[in-house]
Amino acid sequence: MRVICLAIICLITYATVQAQRISAPALIPAPVKMQLLPGAFLLDKKTFISAPETLSTAVALLKEYIGIEIQSSPTAKGIHLIIDSTTVKEAEGYRLSINPGKIEITAHDEAGILHAIQTVRQLNNKGQLQSCLITDYPRFAYRGMHLDVSRHFFPVSFVKHFIDILAQYKYNNFHWHLTDDQGWRIEIKKYPKLQSVAAWRDETLIGHKKELPHRFDGKKYGGYYTQEEIKDVIAYATARGINIIPEIEMPGHALAALAAYPSLGCTGGPYKTATFWGIFDDVFCAGKDSTFSFLEDVLDEVIALFPSPYIHIGGDECPKTRWNACPLCSLRMQQEKLPDADALQNYFIKRINQYVRSKGRKIIGWDEILEGGLAEDATVMSWRGTESGAAKQVIMTPEDELYFDHYQSLYTTEPLAAGGYTPLQEVYTYEPLKEVKGVQGQLWSEYLPTTTQAEYMLLPRAIALSEVAWSPQHAKDYPGFVRRLKKQSIQFKEDISYKNVVYKEKLLITLQGKAAIYYTTDGSPPGLYTRPIVIKKSSVIKTSDGFSQAFNIHKAVGAKVTLAQPQNTRYAGSLVNGIFGSDKYNDQQWLGFSGRDLDAIIDFGETNTIQLIGANILNYHWQRMWEPKALQFYASEDGVNYKLIAEENKFPVNGINNIRLKVPAVRARYLKVKGVNKGIIPPGEYGAGGNGLLMIDEIIVE
Ligand code: ACM
Ligand code: ZN
Repeated sequence: MRVICLAIICLITYATVQAQRISAPALIPAPVKMQLLPGAFLLDKKTFISAPETLSTAVALLKEYIGIEIQSSPTAKGIHLIIDSTTVKEAEGYRLSINPGKIEITAHDEAGILHAIQTVRQLNNKGQLQSCLITDYPRFAYRGMHLDVSRHFFPVSFVKHFIDILAQYKYNNFHWHLTDDQGWRIEIKKYPKLQSVAAWRDETLIGHKKELPHRFDGKKYGGYYTQEEIKDVIAYATARGINIIPEIEMPGHALAALAAYPSLGCTGGPYKTATFWGIFDDVFCAGKDSTFSFLEDVLDEVIALFPSPYIHIGGDECPKTRWNACPLCSLRMQQEKLPDADALQNYFIKRINQYVRSKGRKIIGWDEILEGGLAEDATVMSWRGTESGAAKQVIMTPEDELYFDHYQSLYTTEPLAAGGYTPLQEVYTYEPLKEVKGVQGQLWSEYLPTTTQAEYMLLPRAIALSEVAWSPQHAKDYPGFVRRLKKQSIQFKEDISYKNVVYKEKLLITLQGKAAIYYTTDGSPPGLYTRPIVIKKSSVIKTSDGFSQAFNIHKAVGAKVTLAQPQNTRYAGSLVNGIFGSDKYNDQQWLGFSGRDLDAIIDFGETNTIQLIGANILNYHWQRMWEPKALQFYASEDGVNYKLIAEENKFPVNGINNIRLKVPAVRARYLKVKGVNKGIIPPGEYGAGGNGLLMIDEIIVE
C-alpha cells in the first residue's frame, strides 16, 4: 500500500512538473480558456478523423491544414468532430480536448468546428499537438475585414489568400468593396458596359493626391470579376466559414457606372471613370426612376450570386451639388415632400432598403445613412468616429483605429500611404464604446498598387484586430500578443517609439520597442540606449535602424496652457511639448478645432523676453483641415492687459506651414494665441458645407 501511494505521489509530482515545463502555445486570437496538460498527440499517417457526413468540407480543410491522408477505418488515435449545441452554448464556440490518445472537438455549429480546426492548425508543431483543454467562443458576433478592389484591382488568387488569412484568425465576414468612382469590378450581365467601360480608367494618379498639380501614368487600368469567378470565391469563402458581403456603392462614388450609363446622372454626362482619388460631385440622379430600375437590376444579380444576409449599399460621401441643381431631383423632393437634399439621400436609401428587404435581405451602409433618419432595420458601419446612436445594429469601423491604409510607422522609409498614423498597438488596444454587433478593419486601396503592398498594410494589424474581435476583453495583453506574433514567426517591423515627459524647457525621452537600441543625438557613432534621455537643447534622436525624431526646446516648452474652447477629442495633442506634429496628422501631436477658434493662453510662470513667436499650421483641404483666417499673438505681463505683437494671414503651403515671426523684444509672462477658424468649407472642396478643422502644433517662443 505504502509503495502504491508513493508511486502515485511520484506520478502526480512528475505530471505537475511536466505541466509547468510546458510553455503555452502561441494562439491568436487568444482563446477564452486554455488549460495545458502533460503529453502531446502525435499526428501520423494512421490518424483517423471521425465526423458526421455534413462536416465533409471541414474535414477536407483539416486534412489539408495538418497534412494527413484519408483513413477508411478507425484506429485508436483519432480526431473526433462533434456538433453539440447543448454542450457548447455559444454560437461559433467550441471545446477542444487534446490528449496523447485522442483529439476531440465539440462545437456549437459548423463555424465552431472551423474555428477549432484553425486552433488545431496553430497548435500543430511539426506533427505534435500539445495536450490541452480549450474552451473558446467569440466576443463579437461580427468580425470583419474590408477590401477595396476598385481603386486597385486584385486577382482572384489574392482574394482567396485574403480569405485564408481571415479564416485563420477567426474572422467571419469579408466586406468586398466592389464598385467605386475608379472602377466597377463585378460582372452584371444585364449591363455589358459596366464591363467594357466602367471597369476601366484611362490612367492612374502618381503619388499622393495632396501633391499638386496631379501627375498621371498614362496607362489604361482595370478589370473585373466574372460571375463565375465570384461564385468560385464565394464557395471558397463559405468552406472556410467566411460570409462575403458585397458592396455596391450608391448614391455617391458612382462615377465609373455613370461613365458607362451617363443617363443615370443628373446632367447626363459625358462622364469618365475617375483617375484619381477623392469625392466627386457626379452621383446617381435621385430624381430619375431609371436610376432605381438600374440599381434594382444590379442588386438582383448581386443577390442571386451572394448568399449573404447583408448587402452593403455604401451611402457615404454623396455630395448634393448636382441634386440641388437638377430639375428632376427638385421634382422628386417636391412630390415626396422632402425639405432638402439630405432628406432626398434618406429617401434614396430607404427606397433601396425596401427593395433589398423585399428580396429577403438586409442593408448595411456607412454611417452617412443615418443622415435624415435611419432606414428601418439597417446596420450601420460607424467610420467617422461619431456615435451611431440612432442605429440598433452598429459595426465599428473607426477611421483612426481601423483604417489600415494609414501609416503603421512614423519612419520616413514607409511606403506611401493614404495618411494618418495607426500603429499596431493602437489597433490592438482599440475598445468599441458601446454594445455593438462587431468590428471591422478597412483596407482602402488607393495607395496599394500591388498585392504585396496590400498584404504589408493588412498584416499584422488585421491579426491584432482579430484579438479585439474574438478574445475576451480581460485577455487583452499587448506585450503578450507581440510575443505570440513572434512565436508564430509573423513578419513585422518592430519600430522604435518613444514616450516623453515634459518639464520646463526640458524633455525626458524614453525609447521603446526593441531589446537593444543604438542611438545618437549629435551625429556621433550610435551608442547603446540604457536609460531615458534628457533633452535640454533642440536635437534629433536617431537610431541605427532608421528611427529619427526631432525635439525642439524653446521658451514655451513645459509652459501652462489654458484653452478657452476645447479642442476636438480626436486631435488633442500638446501645444508646448517640443514635439512638432508631422504630416501623418493623427500622430497625437496636433490640436484640432472643428468649426471653433483656437484661443489659448500660455503662462510661462515668470516674465520672459520674447523675440520670436511661431506656430505650425496644417493645411490639408483633402482632410477638411483648413488654415485659419488669421493667427494672432498677444503678449501680457499681468495676464489682464494684452497687446497684439504679431499677426499672420497667409498660409500658402499645402501641408505644414511653419510660421515664424520676429518681433521687437517684448517682456511677457503670458502669451495669448488666437486662431480664427476658416468656418464653413467652400463648395467644390472635400467636406463642402461642413466645418473647417483648424490644426495647430506647436506654439514656439524664443
Ligand atoms: C469611407 O471611408 N468613405 C467609408
Ligand atoms: Zn438628379
